[in-house]
Amino acid sequence: MLTKKQVQVLDFVRDYRKKHDYAPSLDEIKKKFKLASVSTAHYYIKKLQDAGQLKKGYNSPRSVATISEKQTIEVPILGVIAAGQPIEAIETPDETITITRDEVGRQGKHYALRVQGNSMIEEGIFDGDIVVIRKQEAADNGQMVVAVIDDNEATLKKLYRERGRFRLQPANPTLFPMYRKEVEVRGVVVKIIRNLESLSDESRAKDKYLRKIDYSWDYRGEKTKSYTHGMHTYPAMFIPQVARRILEAYSKPRDTVCDIFCGSGTALAESRLLGRNAYGIDLNPLAIFLAKAKTTPIDPKKLIREYQALLGRAEKIKNTDIEKPDFKNIDFWFKDSVIIKLAKLKKAIRQIEDHAVQDLFMVAFSETVRYSSNTKTGEFKLVRIKGEKLENHHPDVLGIFRKNAEKNIAGMTDYFRDAKNAWVKIIQGDSSKPNGIDNNSIDCVLTSPPYGDSRTTVAYGQFSRLSAQWIDVFDDPNKASGLDNELLGGRATRNLTHELSSEYLNDALDRITRQDENRARDVLSFYIGLNDCLKQAYKMLKPKKYFCLVIGNRLVKQVRIPTDFIIAELGENIGFTCEEIIVRNIPGKRMPIKNSPTNIVGALEETMNKESIVILRKN
Ligand SMILES: C[S@@+](CC[C@H](N)C(=O)[O-])C[C@H]1O[C@@H](n2cnc3c(N)ncnc32)[C@H](O)[C@@H]1O
Repeated sequence: MLTKKQVQVLDFVRDYRKKHDYAPSLDEIKKKFKLASVSTAHYYIKKLQDAGQLKKGYNSPRSVATISEKQTIEVPILGVIAAGQPIEAIETPDETITITRDEVGRQGKHYALRVQGNSMIEEGIFDGDIVVIRKQEAADNGQMVVAVIDDNEATLKKLYRERGRFRLQPANPTLFPMYRKEVEVRGVVVKIIRNLESLSDESRAKDKYLRKIDYSWDYRGEKTKSYTHGMHTYPAMFIPQVARRILEAYSKPRDTVCDIFCGSGTALAESRLLGRNAYGIDLNPLAIFLAKAKTTPIDPKKLIREYQALLGRAEKIKNTDIEKPDFKNIDFWFKDSVIIKLAKLKKAIRQIEDHAVQDLFMVAFSETVRYSSNTKTGEFKLVRIKGEKLENHHPDVLGIFRKNAEKNIAGMTDYFRDAKNAWVKIIQGDSSKPNGIDNNSIDCVLTSPPYGDSRTTVAYGQFSRLSAQWIDVFDDPNKASGLDNELLGGRATRNLTHELSSEYLNDALDRITRQDENRARDVLSFYIGLNDCLKQAYKMLKPKKYFCLVIGNRLVKQVRIPTDFIIAELGENIGFTCEEIIVRNIPGKRMPIKNSPTNIVGALEETMNKESIVILRKN
């Protein structure tokens, strides 16, 4: 298939040959078409040769010959199609492209579109390429289609039918599929024409930032529970290897680093192993408790001694020696026999004098609380086991505790051996406000922020509630779930007016507002909070030092919010330069794999399977 210009050159060669019995020279072609140079003429000849329209050997003087005539069709290029985000559908025709009938089959009507965006790169379709489409209104599963969605937005994707919906699948590992209940098929791709005169520079300029896929950050199949990292589950934990690699790349031994959403303390534990001093900040008291226990080295000999004594003590505690704790719905979440066993264990742990040792066993106890409760353990939200399963639920409380305690002793043994002489200070506070860390004092800030869905999907407070009710880390454990309202994005803004300067954010907010204004106000509140956190991080960081954020691009109301780009834009407004955005797969990140933000019964949505590492540098 040829461009209009190529067809003209071919016609010229053909006519010239008829007249002269030999082909025109490159110079004659150059003059005829007022081309800039002979090499441009050569370029056209080469393309015609590659397309099989001219015989090879044009370089030998006047040796060119046209291939015997084939039936060609002229296909209108109707406009631009987005192979990324959908754009307003198809524009008016202005150009045509000539292709041979053989290339697209004898049947059907065809049109062509120029591709904009990179969502189909794994199918060999690049920004600026032309795709030839056969008009049809239906497609088979897996066919690459032009689909019109949301009234009048056209996009190029592979189409799959799933239960009650369609999946529009991009062919680019950095992008997520779209799901729709309705899709209008406008045709199927039958031919791809590689971009000749590149459009890509022009269209690439539309995205201010570039994502770089780097599979070396996946750490697929690697152990993530080494040292103290496996002591306790926590939602959306760092992969230790990611934290370590960031620390090694952007800080050096004896530096002071800070994780402003430290959660269970993965980055802090890694910092100490690498000889960096570390601050950690988090609003969740359970996170603070876990982070302290995970980063405080304890001599394993002491731990083993205390452990044996603890088991002996727990066995001797009689039912009459304990008090059943009193908190709301305790009988709903725990069976009576479980409550008694937990209460005995807790009493035995509380008798340990050394606080660090007591805390380490309390962490194992907290995990035991989760696993022996009536909740489904695969969920971060509190969901009760039902029916027969609940009746048959007879957890071996002591067995669970022993397994956890012994795992923690083993992890601490390695940690005690390898932790360097560095400090870790953990602050319970709100990272969008000052937390007492001096300005210009930090060598590297690294963090994985919440995704802004604490009230819906990754509910840190709700996750922490049962433990909180048993291990006394909350002032009022009955209010632990309420923590989710205090976290970033926990309270919707009053309206949608704001002062954040981010085109990407505004675009996402517009799209969400069109469907659900309340959700848009939730989302806005998250980014306002996040922007304040970026400002605080900027203040604490030394000039020219790095702020590395590991973040997923969340889907709200089917709108993918490019949080990585938004962070880059907001950061640059504050005084950072965005140096790099790396995309990694998250094989092991503990996020809910399936939930249903669409509210369509039976519709499942992948929550996250990729995240971006945004590298900002203070100017
Ligand atoms: C993705 S998690 C961090 C997980 C951590 N990297 C780990 O490995 O365990 C995000 C954390 O941000 C905390 N958080 C949310 N809003 C906060 C705020 N405004 N200030 C401080 N921490 C906050 C949550 O409590 C949660 O622990």
